[in-house]
Amino acid sequence: MAELQVIDHPLIAHKLTLMRKKETSTKNFRQLLDEISTLMAYEVLRDCPVHDVDIETPLEATTGSMIDGKKVVFVSILRAGNGILDGMLRVVPGARVGHIGLYRQPKTLVAVEYYFKLPDNLPERDIVLVDPMLATGNTAIAAVERLKEFHPKSIKFVCLLTCPEGIEAMNRAHPDVPIYTAAVDRQLDDHGYIRPGLGDAGDRIFGTK
Ligand code: URA
Repeated sequence: MAELQVIDHPLIAHKLTLMRKKETSTKNFRQLLDEISTLMAYEVLRDCPVHDVDIETPLEATTGSMIDGKKVVFVSILRAGNGILDGMLRVVPGARVGHIGLYRQPKTLVAVEYYFKLPDNLPERDIVLVDPMLATGNTAIAAVERLKEFHPKSIKFVCLLTCPEGIEAMNRAHPDVPIYTAAVDRQLDDHGYIRPGLGDAGDRIFGTK
């Protein structure tokens, strides 16, 4: 069973509530997602590897601890995943970035790939795969399957919102991939939307319909 971590900090809950409101503007929605992503990065990267470095303060020599940002790869599932990317990159600016283009066929909700670009040396890297909504799980499952072809050191999946159906599907397909989320909502509806949810994340981030 994959680890599920609900990052339920009051700051995140507050911002997520604003995002859910239907009257929240595109500009504010995008900004709130960006802020939540930065806050979530703090927990998502809690166990990332660090190494000792010898430094000198103005007063004396000492040993500090640093993460190797270049070993971290944020992989965005297009297009909504890009809404999480900048917030994460703000705290790990040296990270590499990959993109996976997947869309859900409206009738079957099956994931179809149209773009795939990753950095090299994946076996040396820790992947943080990002997509705001883990709904049916089809897209995230397909993305993880593709990433595993490159044998990365580790994969974590980060979303803003999910539901019991999405967690179960992901757990069944990839029990080795931990899921980080800001909230677990009540259910998936017949159209593949999370309820109560926040609507279509991509449309709300980019102001499309
Ligand atoms: N994707 C979205 O953007 N919203 C949902 O509720 C489910 C999937």
